[in-house]
Amino acid sequence: MISNRLLQIAMLVERNKVVFDVGSDHALLPCFLLENVICEKVYAGEIAEGPLNNVKETVKKHHLEGKLIPVFSDGLAKAEDDVDIVIISGMGYHTIKHILESCEVERYQYFLIQSNTDVDLLRRYLSEKNYTIEDERIVFDGFYYQVIRFSADLHEPYSELEIKYGPVLLKRRDEVFIAYLKDQLDKLIKINEIANKSQFDEKISEIEKILYNKSL
Ligand SMILES: C[S@@+](CC[C@H](N)C(=O)[O-])C[C@H]1O[C@@H](n2cnc3c(N)ncnc32)[C@H](O)[C@@H]1O
Repeated sequence: MISNRLLQIAMLVERNKVVFDVGSDHALLPCFLLENVICEKVYAGEIAEGPLNNVKETVKKHHLEGKLIPVFSDGLAKAEDDVDIVIISGMGYHTIKHILESCEVERYQYFLIQSNTDVDLLRRYLSEKNYTIEDERIVFDGFYYQVIRFSADLHEPYSELEIKYGPVLLKRRDEVFIAYLKDQLDKLIKINEIANKSQFDEKISEIEKILYNKSL
């Protein structure tokens, strides 16, 4: 069984689309998408030989020849024209930005991204390229992770608050999002107390306003 983090990514993949998973490692996610008949064809891209060999092993072990396609590629450099959805997960923002900057982003209708760091910078980067945040989820899997589905559609500019916390997350206010905000709040209050400072007062008050539905 795959991790909750990868499962939540899989749940945001539309059926019958061709997927390119950048930095696939063991190709656990592509394998799940194929075996659960969410997709019929998934490219598993890798820049490193070791992980690419892992992908090849997965193809053999799960008899996915012709469906799970290993691609030796830096980001999307070797991606074919039939790709509908690009998945990039389990990496930091700077690696993800390098991957996005090295391709023609407008070639792709959907990006499904889980960045381990600076999710706000990621929202800003792709919204400035005219991508809409169609859906997003917070997942708890030992840590809190955010998964975002971007689609190449026109949108109204996002507010600073939406860039920081996520337009869909702010609207939906589900249990995991509220737990995440409470966790952030506790951490900031503790840091302020330990350092005997008011460094994070502004951020604390911002999170409290979101949590208790007060106007910002
Ligand atoms: C931490 S693993 C993440 C694996 C999987 N995507 C996940 O979410 O669990 C990162 C993988 O990305 C690969 N990688 C890093 N930079 C890459 C790039 N520019 N192009 C393709 N693969 C890359 C690494 O070789 C590594 O296997």
